[in-house]
Amino acid sequence: MTKLSVNVNKIATLRNARGTNVPNLLNVALDIEKFGAEGITVHPRPDERHITYKDVYKLSKSIDTELNIEGYPNENFMKLVLDVKPHQVTLVPDPPHVLTSNAGWNVLGNKSLLNEVLGEFKKAGIRTSVFMNPSAKEVEEIQYIDVDRIELYTEAYASGFSDKEKAILPFIEAAKIATEMGVGLNAGHDLNLDNLAFFKQNIEGLLEVSIGHALISDSLYYGLEKTVGMYKKCLK
Ligand code: PXP
Repeated sequence: MTKLSVNVNKIATLRNARGTNVPNLLNVALDIEKFGAEGITVHPRPDERHITYKDVYKLSKSIDTELNIEGYPNENFMKLVLDVKPHQVTLVPDPPHVLTSNAGWNVLGNKSLLNEVLGEFKKAGIRTSVFMNPSAKEVEEIQYIDVDRIELYTEAYASGFSDKEKAILPFIEAAKIATEMGVGLNAGHDLNLDNLAFFKQNIEGLLEVSIGHALISDSLYYGLEKTVGMYKKCLK
């Protein structure tokens, strides 16, 4: 089974546009769970321009499904994750002002940082994941760190989807390498109603996808309940 974790950053972005509590992030997250999603993902950025640290503390106390916190492991992020103890932490090599995540880790270049922070999260009993490009060579480098899962960065798959048979190939190879190493597989970025089912059908052992932008955008047309159902159907 592949779990659907909905990234609710866009809901916070909409709320922050007015400085009020509309839409109510917590209620939306609880409804997303009620409509069948198996997890909620948040990606607090250093400038808190969408999800705030306060939001994460609040969400963590109320949601029943899996909470996945994504981000760059600076001091504030480490404190937040160790306080909240989510089910999963996904480390992303984001520079502070980047618009959205745009690359996976260079594991060898960040080996000591990654081993140090992954060790702390493991000690706290939190499942760990690192964001990775779909490159066989780069994924092979996870042998140098102790991590439970990788999240494959799917932007290249989404942008190459017009030739989907070709676009999926590096992901199949990267997924196989991770699986052979005993590392679990997540995926995310730019997945949508057009490209999700083909990805799921071709990537064996896909444990979780985290989806935000397209899912929240689709819900403007279909409504949140129906949209969550449509994404879940792609994962069957
Ligand atoms: N995974 C990571 C690491 C991300 O940074 C994001 C976007 O915040 C996503 C998944 C979800 O991407 P999208 O919003 O395009 O579905």
